Amino acid sequence: MIRIHPDLTDDELLRLFDKGIRAQWTQDAIDWSGAASISEAKRRALADVITPVYLGEQTAMVGISTVLPMVLNRGMAEAGLYLSSMGLDEARHFHNLHQLYDLLGQEPLPRRRLPEMFRYHARLLARREPTEWVWGILISDLFAKRFYGGFVERFPDTLVGRLSARTLQDEARHQAFSDRYLTRMLPTMTPEGRQALLDMRDDLFRVIEVLGGRLRPAMDELEWSPEEFIAGLWADTERWARRLHVKPGEAVEAPEPEA
Ligand SMILES: [Fe+2]
Ligand SMILES: [Fe+2]
Repeated sequence: MIRIHPDLTDDELLRLFDKGIRAQWTQDAIDWSGAASISEAKRRALADVITPVYLGEQTAMVGISTVLPMVLNRGMAEAGLYLSSMGLDEARHFHNLHQLYDLLGQEPLPRRRLPEMFRYHARLLARREPTEWVWGILISDLFAKRFYGGFVERFPDTLVGRLSARTLQDEARHQAFSDRYLTRMLPTMTPEGRQALLDMRDDLFRVIEVLGGRLRPAMDELEWSPEEFIAGLWADTERWARRLHVKPGEAVEAPEPEA
């Protein structure tokens, strides 16, 4: 049940919430000029490659609004506060990409051309536990970070580069939340529960690999390889899995004293 007057004692999450509020921004913060100078072939490639991120921003909105009542009902009001600011970030990202498609004069790929993308999002949406959700949101944030980071690297002084650089700052805050939440919850999970998180990750990566194959022609046009993208994303998730001690074989509590 939601408490009327809960304690707000998790200073770290409250600090993240304050940071999240202070860091809000609007479309005026971006210089949107320059779309006309991008070649037709590059504009089409960008429209294709951005499609999964564009849908991902909307899935993030769904994910956050699903986790929000779960954490409030468990008495974690600080997490609820933070997630509310994160929802606004994802809404902004979605709105910005909508604007970008307008300026590029392009449409995202239709569902039939990228069926795996919907499979990926359906996998995330099937989750029942807040920890699974936050883990899924973390992987999706890492996915977004790789995408936006790749654009900043390739096209630093362009419209897409500027928008990506600004968006990346929000995504970094989101990882700090997942870090805080999962660090607290993972030690309370059974080895089976933690293994389920790794299985979920492997499942998502199988879908991402098929997705990478489908986007290869567009990524070629942008001089970006799906293998490079996937290897980077895998390294990121492995680093997080190690940092959070997700692997069931790794000790997360003090060992039992010997008999
Ligand atoms: Fe986002
Ligand atoms: Fe995010």
